[in-house]
Amino acid sequence: MTDPAQTDLSKDAAARAAVALVQPGMRLGLGTGSTAAIFVRRLAQRVAEEGFELRCAATSKATAELATSLGLRVEDLNDIGWLDLTIDGADEVDPDLNLIKGGGAAHLREKIVATASDRMVVIADQGKVVDRLGAFHLPVEVIPFGCQTTKTQIQHALDDLGLKHRPILLRKRDGETLLTDEGNYILDLALEAIPDPQALARRLSAIAGVVEHGLFLNICQLAIIGCPDGSVVELLREDIE
Ligand code: 5RP
Repeated sequence: MTDPAQTDLSKDAAARAAVALVQPGMRLGLGTGSTAAIFVRRLAQRVAEEGFELRCAATSKATAELATSLGLRVEDLNDIGWLDLTIDGADEVDPDLNLIKGGGAAHLREKIVATASDRMVVIADQGKVVDRLGAFHLPVEVIPFGCQTTKTQIQHALDDLGLKHRPILLRKRDGETLLTDEGNYILDLALEAIPDPQALARRLSAIAGVVEHGLFLNICQLAIIGCPDGSVVELLREDIE
C-alpha cells in the first residue's frame, strides 16, 4: 500500500516540474483532479511572484473555481480558441503514453481541451504508471436518456472484443447518481485489462448514447512522473515512436 504522504510529495514534484514548462503569455489548459489542483496552486504562486499574463481554459467547474479563486485568468475555451499547452493528471499511463482518465468524471471536457492544444503533458505519481491499461475502471460518459440501452450496447461491444462478463457500474456519489458538468452519467467499466485499447475506443465511440470514453490514445506527448524525493522521470512520446 502506497503511503499517501509519499504520493502527495510525488504529485507535488510532478506539478512543480510542469509549472516550469509554462511561458509568459501562454494559452493554457488546466486539468482536473488532485494532481492538477496542486499544479494550479503552484502555477498561481509563480504567476503572483513573477507577475506575467496567462490565458487559462479549465477542464471542469471545480478547476475553474479553484483557478479563479487563486487569481488566474480563466476564460471560455471558445474565446481562447486554441491552447499552447494543457497540463492534466491521469488515472493510468501506459508505456506508449496512452491514458485512462475520468476518475474525476471530467474526461469529456479534459479530452476537448487536450485535443485543442499543441501539447498535452500529464503529471502523475508512480502509482499511475502501468504496463497495460485497464486495472482502473474505464469511465464512459453517457447520456441519461436510454442509458440502460446504452449499457447493453456497451456490453455487446465488450462481448465482441472478448471482454465478457465485465461489470459495468453506474457511478454514484453520496448515494446519488453522479452527474457530470454536462449533466450526464458515468458508467465505469471494470475490465481488469484492455488488450486492444484502439479497438475498444472505436467500438465505444460508435455507440449513440456514449458521449465520450476515458481512453486518451495518442494525445499525450509527455508524462512527468513525480517521485517522493522531489525528483521526476520524464516519459516522452518521441522516445517511443
Ligand atoms: C479527472 C481525471 C484526473 O486527471 C484523474 O482522475 C487523476 O486524478 P488525481 O490526480 O486526483 O489522481 O481524469 O477526470
